[in-house]
Amino acid sequence: MKNLALLASGSGSNVQNIANHFAKNPEVNISLVITNNPKAGVIERCKNLDIPLIYLSKVGFSNENTLLNTLRGFSIDLIVLAGFLLKIPDGLVKAYPNKIVNIHPALLPKFGGKGMYGMHVHRAVKEASETETGISIHYVNEHYDQGALIFQAKTPVDTQDTPEDIATKVQALEAEHFPKTIETLLNA
Ligand code: GAR
Repeated sequence: MKNLALLASGSGSNVQNIANHFAKNPEVNISLVITNNPKAGVIERCKNLDIPLIYLSKVGFSNENTLLNTLRGFSIDLIVLAGFLLKIPDGLVKAYPNKIVNIHPALLPKFGGKGMYGMHVHRAVKEASETETGISIHYVNEHYDQGALIFQAKTPVDTQDTPEDIATKVQALEAEHFPKTIETLLNA
């Protein structure tokens, strides 16, 4: 049995995709979802999916002991940032070497770093007149969006695409590739 912890701040479409993917797999258990956002859509999704959800404030998240204590006891094999917007404290990175992965909605190293999340990324891609964008799945290290790349997938950006159109294309790539990549990592 492999145990996943998911960290999420937003609507939770990635949490939903991951839960759907592993729903019929008795070898993979989503032990818990942790959110920093008391208004996040992911909370309702966790209720519907019957996944334990823990809320931690921004202060709670910045304290590595709080996080480590929260995760302790779940025998977590992989921590997945599924639309998570806060910096991961260094102590957590050290406690879970190469066991924390993030999905970023662009082709890193482009359009990464602090403040680059969600629609901010897609607007920046549009403003830069990029002809392609995509997703990057990478290990988490001490720096925002700079850990070793695991997987990337691309999609074309057409000149008439709005940032919302770009978001839709990127979400399709996330749904197609993120759960499968997590499965590959768990089986490695
Ligand atoms: C996703 O597109 C994810 O790639 C992005 O936030 C969105 C969350 O959507 N993550 C980042 O921007 C991290 N820097 P969701 O809440 O519906 O899964």
